Amino acid sequence: MAGVLENIKKRASLKNKNIVLPEGEDSRVVVAAAQAVKEGLAKVTLLGNPEEIAKANPTVDLSGVNVIDPVTYAKTDDYAAILFEARKGKINKKTGLPEYADIPAARASILKDYTMYAALMLKAGDVDGLVSGACHSTANTLRPGLQVIKTMPGINTVSSSFVMIAPEGYNEYIPDGVAVFADCAINIEPDAQQLADIAISSAETAKSIAGLEPRVAMLSFSTKGSGNDDKFFKSVPKMQEATAIAKAQAPDLILDGEFQFDAAVAPEVGKLKAPDSKVAGNANVFVFPNINAGNIGYKIAQRFGKFLALGPICQGFAKPINDLSRGCSVEDVIAVIAITALQAE
Ligand SMILES: CC(C)(COP(=O)(O)OP(=O)(O)OC[C@H]1O[C@@H](n2cnc3c(N)ncnc32)[C@H](O)[C@@H]1OP(=O)(O)O)[C@@H](O)C(=O)NCCC(=O)NCCS
Repeated sequence: MAGVLENIKKRASLKNKNIVLPEGEDSRVVVAAAQAVKEGLAKVTLLGNPEEIAKANPTVDLSGVNVIDPVTYAKTDDYAAILFEARKGKINKKTGLPEYADIPAARASILKDYTMYAALMLKAGDVDGLVSGACHSTANTLRPGLQVIKTMPGINTVSSSFVMIAPEGYNEYIPDGVAVFADCAINIEPDAQQLADIAISSAETAKSIAGLEPRVAMLSFSTKGSGNDDKFFKSVPKMQEATAIAKAQAPDLILDGEFQFDAAVAPEVGKLKAPDSKVAGNANVFVFPNINAGNIGYKIAQRFGKFLALGPICQGFAKPINDLSRGCSVEDVIAVIAITALQAE
């Protein structure tokens, strides 16, 4: 883990990106903000009332951190106008009314939701990436981004992946010691098109974050038609269709499927079951058919295989946003700041 993370941090610091942290009320975030700046990983913008932050964190030196108080900041009206414009015509599912009646309503709303405020700073180009979720749920962290940042060109699905780091000295199936698993955290039952998006985005994460040459396997309980589930979930035809869509959408990508996990990683099984495939037997990016398979799969690798799981790393947003776990440590926040900086254009 240390080697992979150190490498990520080194590359992130060369980019000198500005990352916004909307959770100034959380001491772990405040300490991480100061530490990330001290380490030169990124410029950091922290949202909150400067006096309250200083009072709650008297020993933290925030001199290098740009603390912005949305209540008094000169651009708050601009952000409210951007939100109103971006969400015009959208109806609130609970009330059946427009999400924002007017710009003052949008202003009042962002002063209660600093994650949305930060997403608007990102949309306006005033920061390069957003990290939140230390004290907000995944849904409340990602929704602002889904609503106003949207997806990058050519991708219609925001998804997530884990960079899985093999235990020291163990690389029987992955010579680089690193693999990527997706989507284990966001899309619950992706359709074929969404799985193709997840595959393409995960290949990008494998390249930009894990430093891998991606070889993507679309996973199933079937290898090249060996199994069938026409009666139940139709998951085999779904993975076959996803494979075809991804190949058409990204013809240069080394991607194939559908594969059982052993056919994807073990050369002898790959050769036997899919002799013509460039991916069978040597995949390093694994796309699971749904969140159940993905989430269970990464936890098996973590617990039985002693792999370290770095993530979930969000992918597919037009500009980078990442979600922290509510149990995160200061070190976790710093790592996610570095990953987000690395994802920024
Ligand atoms: C990601 C998630 C939070 C979105 O939930 P939501 O806010 O209820 O989503 P909605 O269906 O109301 O959609 C809100 C907007 O986001 C968009 N959206 C939702 N999911 C999206 C995705 N994966 N990619 C791109 N856009 C997406 C919708 O199109 C919609 O856009 P619009 O309002 O402009 O029309 C939801 O899928 C979720 O909770 N996933 C599981 C997360 C989880 O519990 N993970 C466990 C952590 S280990």
